[in-house]
Amino acid sequence: MLKKVSIAVFVSGGGTNLQALIDAQKNGILKSGNISIVISSNPAAYALKRAEQNGIPTYTVEKKQFQSQIDFENEISKILSSFYVDLIVLAGFMCILSEDFTSKYPKQIVNIHPSLIPSFCGKGYYGLRVHEAALKRGVKITGATVHFVNEIPDGGEIIYQKAVKIKKNDTPEILQKRVMEQAEQKILPLAVEKVCANIIKGRKNK
Ligand code: GRF
Repeated sequence: MLKKVSIAVFVSGGGTNLQALIDAQKNGILKSGNISIVISSNPAAYALKRAEQNGIPTYTVEKKQFQSQIDFENEISKILSSFYVDLIVLAGFMCILSEDFTSKYPKQIVNIHPSLIPSFCGKGYYGLRVHEAALKRGVKITGATVHFVNEIPDGGEIIYQKAVKIKKNDTPEILQKRVMEQAEQKILPLAVEKVCANIIKGRKNK
């Protein structure tokens, strides 16, 4: 059997998407990859607890502790190489990664975004702001997208999408929760498995 893809999950907050990946690994939905490490930009992220409870090594790399974006990213790259990471999953990671960094990992970084790209995405659309914008515009359907990360914010190739209906009395908070539960946590494990299986296929053909 070919070696599993080594996955690093980048987090900053609650880690429900990380949990979905851990659960998928346990129940065999994620079978071509293995979460080798969790990197958090926030020392207080609950996601770190979720990783520890599941025996996954964690690192905290706080941007404010570095003089520059380059130093911050170099520290991350150092950790990634020590765990032979093949795939990075941004699961609620609240830091921007520079083009210098993303270009080092072509088709090796995936992100989950809480809307149906190309709606409500790109610069400034993160967290609750995405859902506020969807409600303000009055769309009837929103959802989530898993995509590859390139130099354009939320602009890389789309891997998976799932739609979620907007309800009459939705607030940004209610909508965010429904999108997370009905879309993000469902499609992220499926998309990560798909990408890992392709990486393994690529290795076989070498
Ligand atoms: C999710 O809505 C994700 O799409 C966004 O931040 C939230 C992360 O939640 N970028 P969690 O940390 O996975 O619980």
